[in-house]
Formats: sequence, structure tokens, C-alpha cells
Amino acid sequence: MSDMLQIEVKVNGAQRLIDVAVHHTLLDVLRDDLELTGTKECCVVGECGACTVLVDGRAMNSCLMLAVEVDGSEVTTVEGLATDGRLSPLQEAFLDAGAAQCGFCISGQLMAAHALLSRIPHPTVEEVNEGLAGNLCRCAGYEQITQAVLMAAEGGDR
Ligand code: FES
Ligand code: FES
Repeated sequence: MSDMLQIEVKVNGAQRLIDVAVHHTLLDVLRDDLELTGTKECCVVGECGACTVLVDGRAMNSCLMLAVEVDGSEVTTVEGLATDGRLSPLQEAFLDAGAAQCGFCISGQLMAAHALLSRIPHPTVEEVNEGLAGNLCRCAGYEQITQAVLMAAEGGDR
């Protein structure tokens, strides 16, 4: 019996047919098969948030999902945030606030923040902290990250 399945997924706006191993996670497929390495691999047990992507608009830990689970869904990774080579306003706010230190956690933080701002366009500090609680930053840049999300919210468009 084959351990490969074909799935159909919209990835960063492009419809894709992808042959995936049934035991591979969404994180495996994004990084190894689609070469979307902006999504980071760290704890692989759902604790750090470095692998966060949007699945049908919801922030998910891609290390905890099998790729076959996203068949028929829409997946957005950090590579999908920029448009025509221009960073999104949320990404610009991260830069302006100096939120990226080593940068390792930032793609996950951006995706979680994107999902948060879609749900709550003008969050309080507490709501930002709650929305990003699943995303760890070893550089402890939490204050600047929170600031960046609030700045993006003030600017309106993301
Ligand atoms: S790598 Fe997925 S939560 Fe840490
Ligand atoms: S910027 Fe280094 S882990 Fe967050």
C-alpha cells in the first residue's frame, strides 16, 4: 500500500497539487517539499509557535498537523504576507519597532499577529499578549513585538 497521497491546497494564493507522505506534517511539506523555509522548525511538539502558519485564516502550529489534514484548505505562510515584493504593513511595523532580534521566532509571531488582527482589528495590550501567548521569543523581545502589533493596528491596513 502506498504511503503517499495527493492533496490539493491553496498555498499563498496559488492552487497546488502535492504528493505528500501520509506521516509528514504540514511543517515538513512546507519546508522540505515546497521550500517555504520561512516557517521555522523548533520544538516540533506545539510549544514554541515558530512553525505558525494560517490554515483557512486561523493560526495553527504546522508541526502538529499532518499535511493530509489541509487537503482542500488554504494555507498562508510568512512568504505570503508580502505583495509584489513589498512587505505588508504588519511586517513594516515589526521592522519599525525593532521587534526582530535574532529573527528566528518572527515568522511565527507575524502569522499569529495576522490572525489576531483579523479577529480583533484594534486589540488592547492584553489581547495582543494573549493572542501571541503561544509564540515564544528566546531573545525576549516581547515588548517590541507587542508594540509592533499595536502600531500595525493603529495604521489600520495590514
Ligand atoms: S515547532 Fe511547532 S510549536 Fe514549536
Ligand atoms: S527574535 Fe530571537 S527568538 Fe525571537
